[in-house]
Amino acid sequence: MQPWDVFSMSDPVIRLETPVRAGSRRAAGMPRSAIREIMALAAGRPEVIHLEVGEPDFSTPAHIVDGAFEAARSGWTKYSSNAGLPSLRKLVAERSSRAWRQAVAPEHVVITTGAIGALYSALMSVVDAGDEVLIPDPGWPNYEAIAHLAGATPVRFSQTPERRFLPDPAEIARLITPRTKAILINTPGNPSGAVFPAALMREIVALAARTGVYLVSDEIYEDLVFEGEHVSAGSFGLTDRVFVISGFSKTYAMTGWRLGWLICPPALAATAAGLQEPVTSCASTIAQKAGEAALAGDQQCVQDFRDIFRRRRDIVVDVFGNTPLLPIVPEGAFYALIDIGAAGKGSLEFAKAFLAARQTAVVPGITFGPACDRYVRVAFTIADDQLREGLGRLRSYIDA
Ligand SMILES: Cc1ncc(COP(=O)(O)O)c(C=O)c1O
Repeated sequence: MQPWDVFSMSDPVIRLETPVRAGSRRAAGMPRSAIREIMALAAGRPEVIHLEVGEPDFSTPAHIVDGAFEAARSGWTKYSSNAGLPSLRKLVAERSSRAWRQAVAPEHVVITTGAIGALYSALMSVVDAGDEVLIPDPGWPNYEAIAHLAGATPVRFSQTPERRFLPDPAEIARLITPRTKAILINTPGNPSGAVFPAALMREIVALAARTGVYLVSDEIYEDLVFEGEHVSAGSFGLTDRVFVISGFSKTYAMTGWRLGWLICPPALAATAAGLQEPVTSCASTIAQKAGEAALAGDQQCVQDFRDIFRRRRDIVVDVFGNTPLLPIVPEGAFYALIDIGAAGKGSLEFAKAFLAARQTAVVPGITFGPACDRYVRVAFTIADDQLREGLGRLRSYIDA
């Protein structure tokens, strides 16, 4: 008997040419992240210290929440256009114009459902089945999944500790083939906290301009830089090939509102906006009004959040900085990689054993790419005392 016989017996309507799978090939082939396994093991256990959570632990500031209530009460409860409310697109354009010291047109801004929606629209705008997308190793695991869903083959470029977890433009250039459509970069970086210096960003933007490959720059942590300044891929004027992604989640503690943006090459803005129609239509209109309150309101909260993350980053340095376990001091975002190579196990096995032994959850480095298996990622998104305690447990566990 063949697998499909069972189905044809139980349901005479289904006729199948191929053996039955539980879902589409595309869904079945989607890479899953090892972080889920750790989160499932840590869930519902009040004794666990959570160093795995990748979102700010603060509530959204009150003036932003008030903006949403006001909007809902005054009828901002309908669809917006695919590209978002013109008033919010204008505020994003003004913000980027100020930061990049050059004019960004509101027409090139697309409001999305989180930065993740922007990543999806950017890649879907330029990638065809069979194309290649260059992604960082280590890098946020959703890059691989989105490239896969777009039908593309993800190809990894390295970001090694020797290069302070920054990419090597020469290596990226070597990896470009006639099938390469996009290079995906991330600064400040998840999971390492590395921040691209201006010269590096300039070189990568120039590489994209020279080769005609699109650059998709994920800058969702742009407001969380502790030393120096964030340099956007959009600030070099070569915007024909550059998508810049950012949003509200990390800057304004708005992860649950699902609101981000995409700044597009002029020729692709309408395409990227149109791609939202069959997936989300538009970002929530109420959330968009909250986003307006965030951008138009007092920016003190942004600085306050950054100061808290900087203080916590210093706690990480305090606990690990005088050891070889901290390969780089994070300059941005709210993550650090900790070297567990000495423990002699893979990162998933380590994270499970550490959770069981010391009731503390960390993210196995393998989640971020094959080159990251000798690390675990800690997030400094919990109160200082808890953070210090969790990091202390990690250090003593590795030392032991
Ligand atoms: C590097 C990176 N990009 C994008 C996102 C997603 O942001 P959003 O919540 O706005 O979709 C995250 C979230 O953790 C992230 O770490």
